[in-house]
Amino acid sequence: MANKVSQYLQSSIGKKTVMAATGLFLVVFLLEHLYTNVLLFFGDGGKAFNDASHGMVHSIIIRIIEVVLFVSIVLHVIQALMLTGQNNKARPVKYAVSGVSKTSSWFSRNMLLTGSIIFFFIVVHLYNFFVPYRVTGTVNGPEDPANNLAIAVAEALGDPMYAALYLVSVLFLAFHLNHGFQSAFQTAGLNNRRYAPLWKMAGSFLAFIVFGLGFASFPVLFYLSKVMEWDLLNWAK
Ligand code: HEM
Repeated sequence: MANKVSQYLQSSIGKKTVMAATGLFLVVFLLEHLYTNVLLFFGDGGKAFNDASHGMVHSIIIRIIEVVLFVSIVLHVIQALMLTGQNNKARPVKYAVSGVSKTSSWFSRNMLLTGSIIFFFIVVHLYNFFVPYRVTGTVNGPEDPANNLAIAVAEALGDPMYAALYLVSVLFLAFHLNHGFQSAFQTAGLNNRRYAPLWKMAGSFLAFIVFGLGFASFPVLFYLSKVMEWDLLNWAK
């Protein structure tokens, strides 16, 4: 049994399945993350956002999901490196520009590059928020009104360098997901001629509109609010 599982995971389809499963799990996490971040726009001084973040830290289920999330990202990156290595071996000569297939976009051929930019951003993001909130305790929960997570987010996104890095990473995430959804749907066998265009459209809508515009709204609006001296966290008060 263990032998069969290991054989399957080493096969090409096994690797693609791990890639699709971990990729889609990360997407579910991103949806949840997007929802929590939207609470920052409630204008209640960040209370809804702080309460949600605080609740998560104290939930055992979220703690378990965090471990699965960490394993997923590690597996996704390892499989990405293996699949890209395998593909390069199968096609050692790089495409000449004129010879590039019309059906394969630059982004579909550079998933490792867009993934690496996302990975770099994840590390910086964890260092900025996860470490002070969860490890060193320098940013506290909602019980400390002058030093809470919502204020830390507003301050970080008011920094032009951080806002720009966030925005560029979101752009790469959108393109990564645009191809990623197509690839995952194909792995799941949802690529018959009739419905393929529909899945492609749904994937692009999720990638560019939901995740792209959704996540881009945070650096754009918080940076603008800093420059224009609006108090975005308290607009409804
Ligand atoms: C939040 C972070 C991420 C999300 C949501 C995500 C999502 C996805 C999805 C849905 C796929 C399609 C799976 C499939 O092939 O069926 C995919 C593919 C891929 N991802 Fe990611 N990914 C993320 C981060 C990364 C990182 C950090 C790397 C590498 C450093 C990476 C590298 C790749 C590569 C190379 C593929 C294409 C594999 C192939 O089919 O040849 N991704 N990703």
